[in-house]
Amino acid sequence: MEKKYETTERAHKLLQERAFSVKRRRFIHSTAAAGLAAVSAHADAETVLSGDKVLKNRAKEIRKKGKTVKPSSERLRWWQEARFGMFITWGVYVLEGRGEWIRYQEHIPFKEYARLADRFKPRSFNPRDWVTAAQDTGMKYIVFVTRHHDGYCLFDSRVSDFTSTETAAGRDFVAEFAEACHDAGMRMGLYYSLIDWRFPGVLPHGVKVDDATLAPMVEQAHSQVRELLTNYGTVDILWYDMLMPYDSDRWRSSELNEMARNLQPDILINNRAGLPEDFGTPENVIIPENRAWEACYTMNRSWSYCPTDHNYKPPAELIRLLASCVSDGGNLLLNVSPDPDGRIPAVQMDRLNAIGKWMRTNGDAIYGCGKSPVSAPALGLATKKGNKVYLLLQRWPGATLPFAWCGSNLIAARLRQRTNLSPWNVKMTGYGSRTSRKKLPIPT
Ligand code: GLC
Repeated sequence: MEKKYETTERAHKLLQERAFSVKRRRFIHSTAAAGLAAVSAHADAETVLSGDKVLKNRAKEIRKKGKTVKPSSERLRWWQEARFGMFITWGVYVLEGRGEWIRYQEHIPFKEYARLADRFKPRSFNPRDWVTAAQDTGMKYIVFVTRHHDGYCLFDSRVSDFTSTETAAGRDFVAEFAEACHDAGMRMGLYYSLIDWRFPGVLPHGVKVDDATLAPMVEQAHSQVRELLTNYGTVDILWYDMLMPYDSDRWRSSELNEMARNLQPDILINNRAGLPEDFGTPENVIIPENRAWEACYTMNRSWSYCPTDHNYKPPAELIRLLASCVSDGGNLLLNVSPDPDGRIPAVQMDRLNAIGKWMRTNGDAIYGCGKSPVSAPALGLATKKGNKVYLLLQRWPGATLPFAWCGSNLIAARLRQRTNLSPWNVKMTGYGSRTSRKKLPIPT
């Protein structure tokens, strides 16, 4: 009997046929207005985004076809203001709860793996809950995994029937997610893995094969990216993953991205199809780039649902990661791992709630902020917006908080107290290099 889901051969046929509360004890927050000269010098440096050069050329090409693509720096504006997004990793693999790489790691044959799709029928999938969770956490965009390396599409695809619409779930998760984002005014990003382990020559992962063998998988990527950018309204971000071991020539990435920009002229595209495009994507590490960049991070050590992975970073650490990215001019894309029923696990919700609480008080030290021209590394992390420098303290400095590091142009400073103390606005009286706020209460 023929299976509902595709075998690799069938996939080919288809393709041929159709083409700090966080105990703010640890992390208080003060603002100090720093000298204007230093600040504007910094702002100049920030507008130099290397991806722009590439984009300008592409913009020319696309204009020829009657579409206008704004320069990268303009399209990036909302995203750099946002600074904080949610990543959602979810697919049939969550049924096993051992990560999204199980098929590769455990050498599971496709026929066996595909049976997961016959069981994947989440009872509580409601993307509106995800959007609300992101909003409450202060996240301004969500990137959703629409198809991971296993090939299972969480959307309806004309070039595959290993999809959520053709198997047990019987619904287009991406359509429901898109509707939830659009209704809530949440910016929406779609993750798409170029590699699909179902195709011949792709496994074992990392061994290169010739163009002809790869052609059907490359065709599929072009067709599915077109579907994703055609069928779901405005898509704000195209988040590619896993081109390896091949390069952008093999994937025809330049053609792919040109199509993407024709379909969605304001879209932001990451660098994981092998071209620099709009932003860099350091993974589980903060490596600032001399351009727009976004670090993606797991809360524990797993991207997808893994109930045995208890290696969770505490909320204060997650907030520090966010502040750390922003203080180096980048964004943080923080991952959540919904369970087989589509719910974000409580241990992750607790962290989101703690971050949200901190963001409600301190968000203005994050949104629209970037690298500060002055810093106090051993004291805390500094961010900057306009002529304000925010110092996110990682430890209580004792009875004296020095502001000398801000330079001699300091005008005023405001210290945000822990919630059990009354708010405190400090007008600095001393100007000059030895300014400090003395007689701070020392926490017990
Ligand atoms: C990787 C992994 C993957 C994860 C992703 C997130 O390349 O293969 O499982 O989804 O990065 O950045």
